[in-house]
Amino acid sequence: MGTRRPRIIAALAAVSLAAACSPGGDGGDGDTTGYPEQNITIVVPFSAGGPTDTVTRMIADPMAEALGGKIVVQNVEGAGGTVAAGQVAQAEPDGYTVLMHHIGMSTAPALYKDLGYQPLEDFATVGLVTEVPMTVVARPDFPPATLADLTAYVKANQDKVTLANAGRGAASHLCGLLFQSAAGVKLQEVPYQGTGPALTDLVGGQVDFMCDQTTNTSGQITAGKIKAYAVTTPERVKSLPDVPTTTEAGMPQLQVSVWHGLYVPAGTPPEVVQKLSGALQKALADQAVIDQMAELGTAPVTAADATPETHRAHLEEQIETWGKVIADAGVQAS
Ligand code: MLT
Repeated sequence: MGTRRPRIIAALAAVSLAAACSPGGDGGDGDTTGYPEQNITIVVPFSAGGPTDTVTRMIADPMAEALGGKIVVQNVEGAGGTVAAGQVAQAEPDGYTVLMHHIGMSTAPALYKDLGYQPLEDFATVGLVTEVPMTVVARPDFPPATLADLTAYVKANQDKVTLANAGRGAASHLCGLLFQSAAGVKLQEVPYQGTGPALTDLVGGQVDFMCDQTTNTSGQITAGKIKAYAVTTPERVKSLPDVPTTTEAGMPQLQVSVWHGLYVPAGTPPEVVQKLSGALQKALADQAVIDQMAELGTAPVTAADATPETHRAHLEEQIETWGKVIADAGVQAS
């Protein structure tokens, strides 16, 4: 593990150290019964306003209430979420730095040669949060009317069409890979720091199309501001009843949904991990969270899935699964 501590980690470490030594901290004696005794930071690895940020901000307050503390959400962007993951891996394992991440935690090992962290060794899992459908969407005046038209159009114009994503390793990048593999094309990708800003450019017509989560695209689809060709789940999304599935639209290979989980640095005391997992389960049972998620096309996982054990087993299986899919798609780590 690198010894360089990025500024943010130095700052987080300083805060943790100060709290540990100050009255009310754990005094460095490892007693965590008072946890939390300072603000908890949940790091979001993409821009504010995007799907990962949206899901995090839905659960932050109910989790803070359940913990009897305060949670601050901090966006740390870059490299498809790997910059943030690398920084949290180096944070103090004291329960005051938490990472929200998604399927990208399981694809990064196959996409990055020198990742700088190992998901299964450098993190402890807290629990799964939600699994979000993706949508294939385009700027409002993009010529193709259906997913079949889109496939034909990109084949005929692959040197001109632009495909937005949130960087290599992002869910939008993975879904774009699967689309290109299914369509037999290689498109010009336009990476953003998150699909929040990418969606702004899509609505504005600066980029042609992208694959992104319903937690980001639902509002613009419903408002008619972007075109929606399909959802990438076996069943239609209740909140988007008129959008066909990829199978109905003739591209059954394009099936992916974006699972999200919370992580802490490896070595975080197990009783702290359990407190965080308990607070997560309470947040996911909160009716306001359930309603907000339903409005955006998703739902909380079950309490059993919001546990460290189930989350870890899922992460292990997903690293193996996506490693094979990425290799089969002929994508090289770089
Ligand atoms: C992605 O993986 O595409 C991210 O979810 C984008 C984001 O959250 O901004």
